[in-house]
Amino acid sequence: MTGELSPIDKAKYVSAYRAAEMVQDGMRVGLGTGSTAAWLVRRLGERVRDEGLKIKGVPTSTATAQLAREVGIEVVSLDQAGWLDLTIDGADEFDGELNLIKGGGAALLQEKIVATASDQMVVIADAGKEVEALGAFPLPVEVIPFGWQTTRTLIEEALDAMDVLGTAATLRMNGEAPTVTDEGNHILDLHLQRIGNPRQLALILNQVPGVVENGLFIDICDKVVIGHGDGRVELRDINEGTIELGQVGTDEADNLFSDLAD
Ligand code: 5RP
Repeated sequence: MTGELSPIDKAKYVSAYRAAEMVQDGMRVGLGTGSTAAWLVRRLGERVRDEGLKIKGVPTSTATAQLAREVGIEVVSLDQAGWLDLTIDGADEFDGELNLIKGGGAALLQEKIVATASDQMVVIADAGKEVEALGAFPLPVEVIPFGWQTTRTLIEEALDAMDVLGTAATLRMNGEAPTVTDEGNHILDLHLQRIGNPRQLALILNQVPGVVENGLFIDICDKVVIGHGDGRVELRDINEGTIELGQVGTDEADNLFSDLAD
């Protein structure tokens, strides 16, 4: 099969490609989940194969663990690694302070644990993920299956007092059945439209019995690599207050895409 990547996929690829350059020999690296993170894992696999890069990867989902092994990355658990040098992961939204919504791929719990256990978290994203205010993307919340409807009611009641525009919470489905996360939990997606105070909301949600974790990542992300469909990449460092611009070729991505599709 032949084909070309869409501009969005090229944007994801170039952000992942640039972020993969931050990975150095000997690092313990948290490997995110989702389509952008999958590009990163593939690129790191190439570097392992072609450059002899030696890393230990800590995946944030069973899907990422499987891909990482397939491309030749040594996979270890977080407990084996202890602490990580760097985690690179995608996001569903990021704002100007690099606060995030994550969990579109239902992996937010492991993603948050892994990112928090890292010296640095770098987000890789296409430019469309940047927002003025978080909340247009429904906020994922991982809840235990026991009494999930009660948990949903309690969440909706808590949202009444929050600075948000909507309060509906829907159970994420996988076909006819509720989505089940790697930890055996369910996901409630909160349709908030706009989150006025993400920090406060993140704290309040985790007070509700039955909530395991929410998809707001506050003060966790250090850098974002923003990719564009024409190969431009922008690296923003929130701690240093710096912006670096660059360019990544996308021919390799098209070849890789054709190989994957064959
Ligand atoms: C998974 C996530 C993903 O990082 C997020 O959904 C972005 O995915 P993609 O890179 O496919 O757009 O949080 O739980």
